[in-house]
Amino acid sequence: MKYNKLNGWTIVLLIISIGAIRAHKSEDETTTVERSSKKNVYALIMIDVQYCFINGSLALSNGPAGQDGAEVIPVINELIKKVPFDVFAYSLDWHPANHISFFENLESRKDYVLGGDHEKYQMFDAVTYTGPGLETTQILWPAHCIQDTDEAKLHEDLIRLPAGDNVVYINKGRNPNIDSYSAFLDNDKIEKTPLDNELKARNVTHVFVTGLALDYCVGSTAIDAINFGYKTYVIEDACRGVDGTAIEAKLNQLEQDGVEIVNSHQVEQIINSLNSKQNVIDTCTSNKRYDITDENQDDININNCQ
Ligand SMILES: *[C@@H]1O[C@H](CO)[C@@H](O)[C@H](O)[C@H]1NC(C)=O
Ligand SMILES: *[C@@H]1O[C@H](CO)[C@@H](O)[C@H](O)[C@H]1NC(C)=O
Ligand SMILES: [Zn+2]
Repeated sequence: MKYNKLNGWTIVLLIISIGAIRAHKSEDETTTVERSSKKNVYALIMIDVQYCFINGSLALSNGPAGQDGAEVIPVINELIKKVPFDVFAYSLDWHPANHISFFENLESRKDYVLGGDHEKYQMFDAVTYTGPGLETTQILWPAHCIQDTDEAKLHEDLIRLPAGDNVVYINKGRNPNIDSYSAFLDNDKIEKTPLDNELKARNVTHVFVTGLALDYCVGSTAIDAINFGYKTYVIEDACRGVDGTAIEAKLNQLEQDGVEIVNSHQVEQIINSLNSKQNVIDTCTSNKRYDITDENQDDININNCQ
């Protein structure tokens, strides 16, 4: 009898302690933490809106999709005028005359062609060069965007803001032995252009990519942007591309990599909405009480702010 009575008390005690542990644990799970305010900074990136890709030696209108690169200009100008971006970045494809990407230079680089037999390659074929730099596979484009030529200039109708605190210009593809589709990195992903450092120096958090060509330089830039830690958007109607199938494939790849494909008319709303969430976070942070249920700021449940 005595034994059973003791057991009963033990069970009661056990239930009480389990309850206490539970309560403690659930308190832990919803711990309010201080969240340091990280202001959103928005950059508009404009890729290669140059004559070479519009009406010059590599005009998109001559490509399989027959697109008109000039059509991005009014869309980008409208974005510059209407949307409150903090930073603007322009890139230019900017090649020396002996650049590896030019079909015209195949002959002078024939000793580096993998497998020899350079004569079998035609314009737009991919060739693997074993040197003189690192091995690289290169599409043979017609000579284009040669430094300081007229066709390498940005189109005169594009709003070209003066370089300064909020405006950067990036010349890419300057190394004769490696191409650079991306405005961040060369095609072997070895050497960075100044773009990432310029954006980081300005505390940029979100980038919106536009320009030419969607299936090459715009796509590569957006993928590097996400890899460098920026929340990344491609504004589809502010881009044109070379090949319809390649454009579709690139858009799918971008979405899989976490890039958001948006329309220019949505951008202002996206930024306003991100800013209102930011304001809620700032208020919560200044009150030093904020329940974080999801580290992804976009998904934060604002009702948790106390
Ligand atoms: C391309 O267009 C610009 C301005 O619209 C013009 O000045 C230039 O001559 C054109 N280039 C070619 C190769 O047609
Ligand atoms: C970037 O953020 C740092 C740290 O918050 C700040 O000290 C710096 O002034 C910011 N730079 C710009 C250009 O806003
Ligand atoms: Zn190029």
